[in-house]
Order: sequence, then C-alpha cells, then structure tokens
Amino acid sequence: MIEIDDLTVQFGGVRGLSALTARLPEPVTGLVGPNGAGKTTLINVLSGFVRPTTGQVRIAGQDLKAIAIHKRAAFGIRRTFQNEQVVENLTAADNIAAVLDNVPTGGQPRAALIARALEFVGLSARRDALGRDLNAYQRRMLEIARATVGRPRLIMMDEPGAGLAQHESEHLRDVIRQIGGYCGAQVLLVDHDVDLISATCAATLVLDFGSAIAYGPTAGVLADPKVRAAYLGVLEDAT
Ligand SMILES: Nc1ncnc2c1ncn2[C@@H]1O[C@H](COP(=O)(O)OP(=O)(O)O)[C@@H](O)[C@H]1O
Ligand SMILES: [Mg+2]
Repeated sequence: MIEIDDLTVQFGGVRGLSALTARLPEPVTGLVGPNGAGKTTLINVLSGFVRPTTGQVRIAGQDLKAIAIHKRAAFGIRRTFQNEQVVENLTAADNIAAVLDNVPTGGQPRAALIARALEFVGLSARRDALGRDLNAYQRRMLEIARATVGRPRLIMMDEPGAGLAQHESEHLRDVIRQIGGYCGAQVLLVDHDVDLISATCAATLVLDFGSAIAYGPTAGVLADPKVRAAYLGVLEDAT
C-alpha cells in the first residue's frame, strides 16, 4: 500500500509534483500521463533521489521520511530507470551480487539467489555476459532481476517497455504479472504503452501537471475523456 498526501516537489520555478494525494493498494498499479507530468519525479521521491518540498508518503504503513535514503533498498523500495543503470564492466550475475550487499538475503546462498533471479527474467544463459555486451532488452530484464532480490516491498519501473519488439514486450508483460507471486512486491509501472498498462495493471493513476486527474480500474480510467484529452493530446469530447 502506497499512501501519498499533499506531495509537492518544487524545482526552482518548476513544479514536478503539485499537492498530489493518492492511495495505491493494488498489487500492480499503472502510472501514466504526458511527458513532464511528474511520473519520474514521483519515483524519485519514493526512492529518495528527490526530496519533497512538502507532503508525506507512507509505504507499508511506514513514513518514508523516517527511512534514510541509503536504507530504502534494504527496506524494500526498489526501482528500474528510464535509462538502464547496468554496470558495464560487471557480469549479469555480478550486477545482481552488488545489490545483495545492501539488502536482506535471509541467509540464503548468494549464488542461488542470483541464479533464481536470472531465471525469473529469462537471462540464465547470459549469467556471465558483461553488462556492456547485453542488448537493451536484456539490460531492462537485468534491472528487473536486481530489483527482485532481497525481499522487495515495492518495485517501481520507469518506462520498461519503451522501444521493445513485440515478443520482448510480451515477455515483459508476463514477468510483471508474475512479480507479486514471485517475490511479494507491489509494482508501480510507468509506461506509455497502453496495451502493457491494460494487461498488467488492475488500477491506474493518471498525472497531469504534477497532480492526479484520475484514478481507478484501468479500463475505465483510460476511457475517461478527461484522461484522453490530457494524455493523448486530443480535444476533450464527452460524446
Ligand atoms: N531535476 C530537475 N530539475 C528541474 N526540473 C525538473 C527536474 N526533474 C524534473 N523536472 C521537471 O519536473 C516536471 C516533471 O518531470 P518528470 O517527473 O520527469 O515527468 P515525466 O516523468 O512524467 O515525464 C517537468 O516539468 C520537468 O521538467
Ligand atoms: Mg519520466
């Protein structure tokens, strides 16, 4: 459960988020909105990259302000990036191992945790490949694998579907659907691919100019004329 109250982020004269209030209880929640709407800023606040100007966020009942930024991964707040942050000169396995240094492992052998995470995202055959030798899709999947180790509570994905081929996108969809059952984490998914959001997200939150303009079951939200006008840039037409 993510509880956001009156959250504002001011970047000088620009508002990244503007008095955003939302309750997000669903296992997989979509976060959509036009470019500049504040989607990445929200992920940055939750993961600690950006400090909110005002407002409060609770995750699993815990006030985020009480969790130091360097302890958020261990608490279970994890993310992937709009531009993948894979370490180029480490193998896929060692990219995951680096995360295991900072999260609870339940005393399980590292090699087993790494093998399981690679298998989950379909990268077992690339275990010993260097980050720089992975293609864009494999890098995305490796970021997801890193986010699933060490008891995550919330995994946020920033546009994981961008630029993927059809079969890659279908595999991504399956992986996102399975994350909750696999590692217990809630998922917050930012993407422009309406088919991906529709197929994976029970509920969707729509941002525009840093505020929520709609929230509810995904199909209804995406059909809302107000959302279509903001998000698709078409003129509002309620007929
Ligand atoms: N570090 C920053 N410094 C200044 N302005 C920023 C910064 N990050 C985001 N913004 C601004 O905040 C607004 C929201 O941006 P962002 O969260 O990246 O939108 P989205 O991910 O929905 O495209 C935009 O106007 C953007 O230019
Ligand atoms: Mg963004």
